[in-house]
Amino acid sequence: MINRKELIKKYLEFFKSKGHKEIPSASLIPENDPTVLFTTAGMHPLVPYLLGQKHPLGKRLCDVQKCIRTGDIDEVGDATHHTFFEMLGNWSLGDYFKKESIEFSFELLTKILKIPKEKLSVTCFAGDKNVPKDEEAAKIWKSLGIKNVKFLGREDNWWGPAGNTGPCGPDTEIFMNNVEIWNNVFMGYNKTKEGKYVPLKQKNVDTGMGVERTIAVLNNLDDNYLTDCFLPIIESIEDFSGKKYDKHKKAMRIIADHLKAAVFIIADGIVPSNTEQGYVLRRLIRRAIKYGNELKMKDFTSKIAEAVFDIYDDYPEMKKNKKAILEELEKEEKRFQLTLEKGIAQFQKFIADKKISGKECFLLYQSYGFPSELIEEECRQRKIKFDEKGFEEELKKHQELSRTSAQGRFKSGLADQSEKTTKLHTATHLLLSALRIVLDDENIMQKGSNITAERLRLDFNFPRKLTSEEIKKVEDLVNAQIQKSCEVRREEMSPGEAKKKGAIGVFDKKYGEKVSVYTVEDFSKEICAGPHVRNTCEIGHFNITKEEGSSAGVRRIKAVID
Ligand code: ALA
Repeated sequence: MINRKELIKKYLEFFKSKGHKEIPSASLIPENDPTVLFTTAGMHPLVPYLLGQKHPLGKRLCDVQKCIRTGDIDEVGDATHHTFFEMLGNWSLGDYFKKESIEFSFELLTKILKIPKEKLSVTCFAGDKNVPKDEEAAKIWKSLGIKNVKFLGREDNWWGPAGNTGPCGPDTEIFMNNVEIWNNVFMGYNKTKEGKYVPLKQKNVDTGMGVERTIAVLNNLDDNYLTDCFLPIIESIEDFSGKKYDKHKKAMRIIADHLKAAVFIIADGIVPSNTEQGYVLRRLIRRAIKYGNELKMKDFTSKIAEAVFDIYDDYPEMKKNKKAILEELEKEEKRFQLTLEKGIAQFQKFIADKKISGKECFLLYQSYGFPSELIEEECRQRKIKFDEKGFEEELKKHQELSRTSAQGRFKSGLADQSEKTTKLHTATHLLLSALRIVLDDENIMQKGSNITAERLRLDFNFPRKLTSEEIKKVEDLVNAQIQKSCEVRREEMSPGEAKKKGAIGVFDKKYGEKVSVYTVEDFSKEICAGPHVRNTCEIGHFNITKEEGSSAGVRRIKAVID
C-alpha cells in the first residue's frame, strides 16, 4: 500500500534530489487571469515563466497543485472522474528537455515507486504537417527498455495551449497497466492568435501526474474512491446514510467529489452565488445535496465535509478557514432545501403536459435556485426535452452569466498576458498603495483581485464605505504616479527580506524560497508574480467606476484605464 502523502513526498523528494525547487500550490482561483475560472493544471500559474520570464527559484521546479476541472462534472459518478484533483508536476524552464525528462520519469517509476518496467507502456506524438514525428522520445524510451511504445496523433499526444494561445507541444504519456498516470509535455511551441505554431526560444518540459489515479493503480484498485484520497469521505457518507457504498456508488461518489471540491473552492475565498466561480460552487453543493436527498440524507454537507479536512490537513488555508467553510456549506444547504421542495412542486406542474419551456426553466433557475444542470437532469430522467436554447435566451435577457458562458470562458482557457491586463495589473498595485495612504491605514491588504481586459477589481479590508472625496483622492494619487513616469522595478529576494524591506505581501501564505518584488519608487512595493509594465506612464488614465461592500469588513473597487 502506498498512500497519498507518501506518493507526494516521494515525488517531490525525488525531483528535489535532481535539482528542482519545490513551489507552493497556487490558489484554485487564478489571481490575474480573466479568462479562466479555475486552475486546471500545474502549469497554469507558470505560464509567464514558460513564455520566458525568469522564475525567482530557477529553471527546475516541482510541486503538487490543487486543480478543478469543471468540464468533467457530468462524468463524475464513475470510478475515475473528479472535479477536484491534485497534480504532481515537474518543470524545466529552458533547462533539460526530452532525454532527462524521460529518464527522470523512468527512474522515479521503476526505482522509487518500484513499478516493474513490463507494466509500463508509453505513447509518443505521431507527427503532422506542422510538427514532425517524435522519434527522439520513442528512442529514449526504447533505450531504457520500454517495449510498448505507440505513436498517436494530435488528439492524444499533443498538449495545450491551455487557452486559445500559449505554450504547447507534443507529449509522451505514460501508462501503468493501461491507466495513464503521467504526461510529459515538451513545450517547444507557442500557438499564436493566428493559429500558427511558432517554435519557442525557450524549450520547456511540463509534466503532470494525477495523484488520485496513480494511487489507485499503484494499489491495484480500479476505483479511485477506494483510495485514501476519498475513502474516509465515502465511509462518512455510509455512516450518515446507513447505506452501503456498493449499492449506491454513483450517488456517493458524486457527493464525495462535489463536497470535496466545494470545500477547496470556499477555502480559496469563493462563496456560492449566481455568477462565475460562485455559480460553479453553488452547482456542486446543490448537486451533492440532491444526491444526498436520494439517499435520504438531510443536513449533511458540513458533517461529511469534516472528512475532507482530515485527508487534506497539509493545506494550511483549509485548517485556517475550517469553521467558516463549514458554515458556508450549512448556509447554502438551508437555502437550497427551502427552495428545493417548492421548486420540485413547481417543476411537476410545468411538466404536466410533458414539456417545459425555456421561460419556465428560467423561472426555476431564477426563483427557485435550481441550477440549470439540475433541471436538465430532472428532464433527462423523465425523458422530457430540456429547451437549453430557450433557457439561455431568457438568461441572457436577465443579464446573468449563464452556466454555458461560464463554461465557454472556462474552455477558452488562459488569458493572453495582454498589454491591457498587464497595465491593469500594475494599476492594481498603485491603487492598493493609494488606498493605504488616503485612508491612512497600513493594515489594508488585498483580499482578492480579478482583472479582465476591461477593468480591474480589487477587494481589500476596510470597515466602511469610502466617501466620494476619498475616492477622488485615491484616483488622483494613482494618476499622479502614472504622470510621474515612474520605473517599475523587479527584484528577487527571500520572503523574509521582502518583509524587512516593507513589501506588501501575505506573509502567512506559503511563499517559495524566493519571491519577486515589484517596486514603484517609494510609492509601492509588493510581492507579486507579475506581469507588470516597465514604466507607469504606459498605464494611461485611471478611473474608479465603483466602490461597494463585498463581504463583512471587505470593500470592492472596480476601476478602468483609458
Ligand atoms: N499540463 C499537462 C497536463 O495537464 C502536464 O496533462
